Amino acid sequence: MIIASQVTLKPDSVLGLATGSTPIGTYDELVELYARGKLDFSEIKTVNLDEYKGLDRENEQSYFYFMKKHLFERVNIPLASVHIPDGTAAEDERECARYEQIIHDLGGIDLQLLGIGHNGHIGFNEPEDVYERKTHCVELSERTIEANKRFFASEEAVPRYAYTMGIGTIMQAKKILLLASGEEKAPIMKQALLGPITPKVPASVLQLHPDVTIVGDEAALSLL
Ligand code: GLP
Repeated sequence: MIIASQVTLKPDSVLGLATGSTPIGTYDELVELYARGKLDFSEIKTVNLDEYKGLDRENEQSYFYFMKKHLFERVNIPLASVHIPDGTAAEDERECARYEQIIHDLGGIDLQLLGIGHNGHIGFNEPEDVYERKTHCVELSERTIEANKRFFASEEAVPRYAYTMGIGTIMQAKKILLLASGEEKAPIMKQALLGPITPKVPASVLQLHPDVTIVGDEAALSLL
């Protein structure tokens, strides 16, 4: 497994992590390997792609809570080594600059895990006219709110804004691992990987990255 090899070969790796339903199985496998004594996360550092604006860490819909539940509290990673944008930050610009600085100070991301949204978003980089390079605050698209409302009590409860690493932040990762599952992701996987490179399909920029591995089930990759 790619992440396990990264952790074994470079025990102080900086891992870029993702949320959503797709990587849950990946985290379960890492936890399983850890439980069997095959992996050690004590020197690993992590940076997550994104966080909802307005949700604090204890909020069950926050990405910090998700990461704690699915990975952080199940392996021996010190909480001081995990980084996620602060959804409760008072000033957007300051929080985004702080987050970029953290990634810079860690020496950049060794391996970035990515899922893909139905509209081709990576992290929360939504379809736009231009690529946003760095960590920024983004207004979520209706498509994303619609897709993510399943995790909230109602559509109204879904935050309208989020902090996300920029396309430049993601593209600077040394290696990228893109995960996709389910037939509903098949059309966007085709567009992203075989279509034109455009900020209207944010994941299409991955065609320009020198080291991307795509892991998907048959349904998600059926149109490739
Ligand atoms: C969210 C996250 C993305 C993720 C996407 C897809 O919007 N911000 O990082 O890739 O959902 O989620 P899922 O894997 O549940 O389809």
